[in-house]
Amino acid sequence: MRAAVRTGLLGLTIAFKDDVPPPPPCDPNVPIAPTDVLIKVKSAAINPVDYKLPRLVGGTVVGIDLSGTVERVGADVTDFKVGDNVFGRSPIIGGRGGSLADFALVPMDEIAIKPEWLSFNQAAALGVAYLTGLQSLRAGNVSKDSSVLIIGASGGCGIAGVQLARALGASRVVGVCSGRNFDFVKGTSGMELELIDYTKEGSIEKFRGENIGKFDCIYDTVTGSGRGEDYVASMMPLLKESTGTYVQINGSPTTMARHVIGRMKAQRKVVFTSGKGKKDLEEIVSLLKIFVARPHLDVKTFDENGVKGAFEQLRGRRTKGKIVFNME
Ligand SMILES: NC(=O)c1ccc[n+]([C@@H]2O[C@H](COP(=O)([O-])OP(=O)(O)OC[C@H]3O[C@@H](n4cnc5c(N)ncnc54)[C@H](OP(=O)(O)O)[C@@H]3O)[C@@H](O)[C@H]2O)c1
Repeated sequence: MRAAVRTGLLGLTIAFKDDVPPPPPCDPNVPIAPTDVLIKVKSAAINPVDYKLPRLVGGTVVGIDLSGTVERVGADVTDFKVGDNVFGRSPIIGGRGGSLADFALVPMDEIAIKPEWLSFNQAAALGVAYLTGLQSLRAGNVSKDSSVLIIGASGGCGIAGVQLARALGASRVVGVCSGRNFDFVKGTSGMELELIDYTKEGSIEKFRGENIGKFDCIYDTVTGSGRGEDYVASMMPLLKESTGTYVQINGSPTTMARHVIGRMKAQRKVVFTSGKGKKDLEEIVSLLKIFVARPHLDVKTFDENGVKGAFEQLRGRRTKGKIVFNME
């Protein structure tokens, strides 16, 4: 089958191949685990984690996010049947292989039924970015009338955060991104929101000066992304005193260590997308339906050039919304 695979000594190079062995249960004579679902992948999205992990951790086939059609189910699978259209994740831990392939084998509690009003490409984009957005906004107690600051508002996780914050009822949503992406973020979010251009000298400082103690939640998708950007110290004072929460999804080794040993500083949290995703995926669909919001896509062809170009673009950290491969 076609697949994007990790190659080289550590498996940190990503290459397109068309002779990768399919998951064994593609052969009807090979048993399928009771809780597994075999999916004919129609669309698969990519995330920075896909190129950050070596083969030893991430496995040979790259990718987590997918949508497609159920080909075969294990004996204990009751929520899905052959022919159902589904979307979700092929998780790194507990997964049976990645999503950038013609077929993927996934645990039944990591997928949900794809609604008709989302295309396969759109549904594939929801896994990692929207689950992270939902779980982060939850960690920040975002609900009706919350004020939320989203750092990195034009990226995959950022746009998800903006759309979900709106659907959760936040009354003030402010995004930080580069000015050239303002129209794109406004268009995709479908709401009136304030945007701050971090590339314009003095704009962050001015915004900070006017907003001390005003936010219930800061959702930071940028800090610790590998280029030394760190918003934590400069933005923490914008939280409401004692009740606001700073949620980050990446960070320095010290922050990560503190998170792992449960010693995060007051009002700060690190979120790693977790748990079995099915219920949260269903909630995401319900929330997006409120405003008929959809992810913004940059659709690529699944071939050698498409895979190479897409990962170069993703590594460049200038992606607008989500990069998705149309696998059909
Ligand atoms: N903890 C978890 O479970 C989890 C889950 C998903 C992702 N992550 C991590 O979260 C990070 C973001 O993921 P993603 O999928 O959203 O990545 P992405 O789509 O590649 O993010 C690209 C965006 O980052 C923005 N950006 C870059 N530098 C910025 C800066 N200095 N200030 C503000 N915005 C900046 C860019 O905005 P402009 O082009 O407008 O400048 C671009 O839109 C990655 O490090 C990823 O590994 C963690």
